Formats: sequence, structure tokens, C-alpha cells
Amino acid sequence: MSMKENLEQIRSEALAAIAADGADLEALRVKYLGKKGELTAVLRGMGQLTPEERPVVGQIANEVRADIEAAMTARKETLAAEALERRLKEEKLDVTMPGTAAKMGHVHPLNLVQRDLEDIFIGLGFSIEEGPEVEYDYYNFQALNIPEEHPARDTQDTFYITEKMLLRTQTSSVQARVMENKKPPIRIISPGRVYRSDAMDATHSPLFHQLEGLVIDKGITMGDLRGTLDTFAKQEFGSDTRIRFRPHHFPFTEPSAEVDISCFVCGGKGCRLCKNEGWIEILGAGMVHPHVLEMGGIDPTVYSGFAFGLGVERIAMLKYHIDDIRHLYENDVRFLSQF
Ligand code: PHE
Repeated sequence: MSMKENLEQIRSEALAAIAADGADLEALRVKYLGKKGELTAVLRGMGQLTPEERPVVGQIANEVRADIEAAMTARKETLAAEALERRLKEEKLDVTMPGTAAKMGHVHPLNLVQRDLEDIFIGLGFSIEEGPEVEYDYYNFQALNIPEEHPARDTQDTFYITEKMLLRTQTSSVQARVMENKKPPIRIISPGRVYRSDAMDATHSPLFHQLEGLVIDKGITMGDLRGTLDTFAKQEFGSDTRIRFRPHHFPFTEPSAEVDISCFVCGGKGCRLCKNEGWIEILGAGMVHPHVLEMGGIDPTVYSGFAFGLGVERIAMLKYHIDDIRHLYENDVRFLSQF
């Protein structure tokens, strides 16, 4: 093979290798153009050429080197461009894509209702008072005009802790405490847990929540009670809601009433929710019994007041059409995430 042919072969081999190469161009540079490379090896044989041949072969050798170098530079640029293209594709961030929604917690329906109620009554000038869940018999019963042996005790299925201590069966216990500690005017609500030793079923739970209201001042009348509850009913159940009082008995209020709201589903015509009554019982209320005021250290000849107590579960179940109270305690995320 002549030197010329040799150079041509190196050129075509090198160009093919460069075109096929994925990344390691440096190895090819060493192989063809390096000090111990193939092109150098051929040039070393230049001395054997005739003086006429030398410049011709020299020119071809220069062309071959230039071609190989140009091919390598071009290939390098192509590879770099491809790598960049690949990276851009891999790392592309489409800011218009919808994000992965973070799983959000939900406010429990009982808390939703309790917050609503608190907002309503705070708006009416009430403040919030809390009392202990482990309570003295005195505040849960005696100070509320329910002495020992009073039949009303039987209806409350009390969990006793000792003879004198119990789990409060009603938030009315807070009334008795507030009367002892505050001077009228008193205008408080007291939300919280209460306990009764009831078997768990669709409408009963041994632990549930009540919200108590108490107002005491000079000249408080049943009209004030009615106005307060009317405002509450309209805000909680809708502005068309009406209320009605039915005579009832509680030992700590006189007179006492059970209070109904007009059905917020059918407006009073009768439907499934109100069991065709048009009315739904919502709470107990009345004028604070003079004897209860007296035991709380408030002079019933100067002051009068009203009280009411409602069940938070009952309102949540009515409002959100929950047919089983147990849903409120099982913490099933499928249930809770609906609110
Ligand atoms: N404590 C009563 C109950 O648990 C409700 C009530 C509160 C009634 C205040 C009248 C006044 O049933």
C-alpha cells in the first residue's frame, strides 16, 4: 500500500470511527493524531519518499489531520448538543401542569358546628366559659335544684367516680360555677363534653357535647330568651327559620320549655327530616329558677335570667344529614373528608 493510500485509509477509518463514537473522542484523538498515533506513524516514513513525492504526501497528510480534527470538533459539538437536549427534556418542568394536591385535614363536623355556635353567640355579646368534666355532684345536681333522691337524677344515667364526684351529665354544671364566681350582668356560653352511661346506638353515645347558655341581669324576661334563640336559629339554620316553645320541665328553670325550630328542609310543610311534623326539637331552655340563683349567691328579687342547653351532635346530625351518631366518633377519613 502506498503512503497515499495509507493516509486515505486512516482518514476514512477515523471519520467513520468518529461518526460512530458515543462519547470517548479523546481515545480516538490519541489513536489517530497522538504522538504514537497512526497518522504520526505514517509521517515518520516520509523520509523514504522522493523529494517530488514529499510535498504531495505532506499536503495530503495535513488535509487528513485537518479533516479528522474538524470531524472531531463537529462530533464533539453534536454530542454536547444532544446531551443538553436530553438533559433539558429530562429536567423539564411544566409549570402549567396541575400540582400534586397535598392531603388536607378537615374540620370535624362537631367542631364546625361548635365554631358556628360560638361565633353566633359571641356576636350577641356572650363570652365563653369552661368547666371541668370531672365534676362535683354539687355543681352537676344539687346547685341546679336536683337534690339527692330527686327523680331527675335517674334520667341522667350518671357515671359516678366517688359518692361526691362524677362525670358531668350536662354543661349546666358550668352555670352553677359561673354564678358563684361572677356578678351579674352575666352572659356566657359553655361548650363541652358531657357523659351519660347510655349504650351506644345510632342516636346515643356515652360521651357527647352540649352547649350551655346563661344570661343573668336585672329585668331579663322570657322575651329576651325568645329573641336570643330566634336570632340563633335564623343564623344557624337560615333566615326563614321560626322557633316555637313547648312547655316542659327542668328542675333548674321555671318556667321551662323545649324549643323547636321550623324544619329547615321543608320549611314546615312536613318531610322525612322532621318526620312530617314541620318542627324539629332543638334544645331545652327556661328562666333560671329563683332557688338556683339563690344557691349561686345571686339575689332573685333583684336579678333574673335565662338558660338554655343544646346538643352539638344533634345539630351536626340534622345539619349534615348524618343518620348515625357513631360516624362522628369513628374518624373514618372517607366520612370526615366530606366536610
Ligand atoms: N341541661 C339540660 C339537658 O341536659 C338542658 C337545659 C339547659 C335545659 C339549660 C334548660 C336550661 O337536657
